[in-house]
Amino acid sequence: MRVLGKVAGFSLLLTLVFTGVANLLPQVQGEPPEETTIDVSSLTMADFTRLGEKLFTGKGTCALCHNNMGRAPDLLALNVVDTSASRISAEGYEGDAVDAASYIRESMTEPSAYVVPGFGKKGTDDQISPMPPVNQAPIQLSQMEMDAIIAFLESKDGHDVTVALPTARLEPAPEPANDSAAEPAVSGETATAADLLMNYGCTACHSILDSEVDIGPDLRTVGARLTTEQIRQSIIDPMSVIADGYEPMMPDYFVDELTIKELEAIVKFLESQNG
Ligand code: HEC
Ligand code: HEC
Repeated sequence: MRVLGKVAGFSLLLTLVFTGVANLLPQVQGEPPEETTIDVSSLTMADFTRLGEKLFTGKGTCALCHNNMGRAPDLLALNVVDTSASRISAEGYEGDAVDAASYIRESMTEPSAYVVPGFGKKGTDDQISPMPPVNQAPIQLSQMEMDAIIAFLESKDGHDVTVALPTARLEPAPEPANDSAAEPAVSGETATAADLLMNYGCTACHSILDSEVDIGPDLRTVGARLTTEQIRQSIIDPMSVIADGYEPMMPDYFVDELTIKELEAIVKFLESQNG
């Protein structure tokens, strides 16, 4: 029975890795992620805000940081429209936003344009935001997806939605133009493990780099605790082994989101973290 159990576990792992490979191949080859096509002729504003809510907790990864754990302003609890108004009129606000929608959009694409006091990256005196620009890789929300999130954040507290419903056939985010200013800060090719850990939200739950948080085990010593294989498995199949004393709350979607190169860069970096 034991042997059978082990064999079953092994083939499950193989299946997961394989699914990951199949999903990630297009990205590895540098093609855009799978196209989202939405029938806009029947799309209502209620549908659009629901899409925004899904993006907030799913692909956008916003809820990994924006929750009630104090890592970032709790956007679900805050009245975001009223908060935006007070940010724009705050002394020291130097961004370009003129209303809630443009403030939320600016927060997503240029997080350091204004850093909420106390939430800046450690050691930067609130000059640099720890939030990744979500219109760039790896999160790479399209304009339409950002509009949907704005619609969700405006409507959840009963405010009017000020973004327009999309009208044309929707395409994924356009390929960034070929000048360095528009290039994503992080791509599968060039991202360092540190960028990846930050942009995939690992730092929201683990102590690693300059992050100090213990929702998950301290990764600064993980190389001394786990083998390379165990580290890889913890990331692609978090439920397979639950670290003692921790809740099984590590997301299981990294296997779908990370490219193989990114996964290996993270594993390599973590195995070198031995205290
Ligand atoms: C890795 C963590 C992280 C992720 C992921 C993240 N944010 Fe943030 N965000 C922050 C932090 C920290 C701040 C506060 C510092 C600042 O002002 O940039 C912030 C600030 C903001 C603000 C300004 C809030 C205020 O009180 O003025 C908005 C709006 C925002 N984020 C929206 C989003 C949305 C929408 C997403 C998902 C598409 C997202 N964020 C993803 C960490 C994150
Ligand atoms: C929402 C919080 C959360 C996020 C985000 C998260 N983790 Fe975790 N992680 C946990 C928790 C909780 C555990 C312990 C429970 C378990 O083993 O599943 C864990 C366990 C681990 C372990 C095993 C550590 C050990 O000592 O056993 C590794 C390695 C790991 N995570 C890496 C990562 C990486 C890499 C990322 C980003 C790609 C990440 N985690 C994102 C919460 C998170």
